[in-house]
Amino acid sequence: MDVKVDTAQFKLDGATYELNVRHGTIGPSVVDISGLYRDAKIFTYDPGYTATASCESKITYIDGDEGVLLYRGYPIEQLAEHGSFLETCYVLLYGDLPNNAQRKEFESAITYHTMLHEQMSRFFSGFRRDAHPMAVMVGVVGALSAFYHDSTDINDPQQREIASRRMIAKLPTIAAMAYKYHIGQPFVYPRNDLDYASNFLHMCFAVPCEEYKANPVLARAMDRIFILHADHEQNASTSTVRLAGSSGANPFACIAAGIACLWGPAHGGANEAALTMLEEIGTPDRIPEFVERAKDKNDPFRLMGFGHRVYKNYDPRAKIMQKAAHEVLGELGINDDPLLDVARELEKVALNDEYFIEKRLYPNIDFYSGITLRALGFPTSMFTVLFALARTVGWIAQWKEMIEDPSQKIGRPRQLYTGPVAREYLPSSKRI
Ligand code: CMC
Repeated sequence: MDVKVDTAQFKLDGATYELNVRHGTIGPSVVDISGLYRDAKIFTYDPGYTATASCESKITYIDGDEGVLLYRGYPIEQLAEHGSFLETCYVLLYGDLPNNAQRKEFESAITYHTMLHEQMSRFFSGFRRDAHPMAVMVGVVGALSAFYHDSTDINDPQQREIASRRMIAKLPTIAAMAYKYHIGQPFVYPRNDLDYASNFLHMCFAVPCEEYKANPVLARAMDRIFILHADHEQNASTSTVRLAGSSGANPFACIAAGIACLWGPAHGGANEAALTMLEEIGTPDRIPEFVERAKDKNDPFRLMGFGHRVYKNYDPRAKIMQKAAHEVLGELGINDDPLLDVARELEKVALNDEYFIEKRLYPNIDFYSGITLRALGFPTSMFTVLFALARTVGWIAQWKEMIEDPSQKIGRPRQLYTGPVAREYLPSSKRI
């Protein structure tokens, strides 16, 4: 598709510079400032990249004002309702929904790559049992590059493809192993007769001493949760993956970098923090106290699972997640979850509070995901791991897009330097 180009003018010290304005298919246009330093010897300044498009992409589109999320043009609601996670992976990686033959080939390739090199299982025992599973994920995913040498050459399309499929296939195995190690149970091998989500639940919750059969309603909810987390445009972890990849680092190292970034409480760690917060609130009568704290400028406390850099409307994923929470609780016969009561009431209070209205703070995906994941049987420490597992496909799709872009170059931001100007080194005898 052709991208329409206009120009904008930039004036500085009496000189006028012509800058290209580029238009995408939807969403805000961008002013191309890539030649600005060369021509005008000035940088632009945008801490936190609040007004900076770091790349051109055809993968995911978000309209934060309207609460819209599209993967390759397909609305998240439709993918979550009618699609599967592996189909979503295909869409993100290859651009369109697969036909039957493509779907079968892809599903089979993923299914037959789920086992991990046996020697890698020894890595886990090097970690303390009380290690956070995200710490284990960062280490073990990075270590894949020490085992799969035949898929680390980023200049070979075939190797890029194998690395991509390997990671989508092996992340659930690694995540389940991190969990099993954490709770002191034996690892459970993947099973090729199960679908992606059922296999993951099986690896997490089966034990050698008894039969385990994944509940199809819970497996479907798990699959849907993976779909909701699969990609989200140029967020912090995705930008980390792109930046790491721009230097030519191997794909496993890049995804490990993404996992490390995702861990933070302002990003993927918010699902864990949101549930901890709901537990701390405990009962609806304590909500006003916490809402007041969130509004107090002198208190660092924030309502976790609220607010988003891009969404200034209800996060479309939060609505689907809320539905999934009801489905899971209903299936498990949990008619009365006190945390769900607290969450619903907190949402109501915040959405009617002037502070949250004025700042356009709405529940994000993490607000209801903790309740759902806890009901599925996961401890809070695993929440961000599940996010990482699902986001891996998004990171890979974005990484591949970057590598395959002929105009790609190493990511190298500049700065506004405010430190000391050049000064002489003083021998220690002359320092006061
Ligand atoms: N509770 C109370 N106040 C908030 C909150 C919140 N959750 N979020 C933002 N604000 C206030 C903030 O204090 C600021 O006020 P002021 O303009 O008076 O200084 C204003 O709203 C704008 O906040 P910001 O931090 O400048 O906005 P941002 O776009 O940099 O931050 C955010 C976005 C998601 C980091 C932030 O909303 C937040 O910390 N939320 C809680 C953590 C969370 O739920 N994160 C998950 C995000 S969704 C999943 C993911 O992407 O990983």
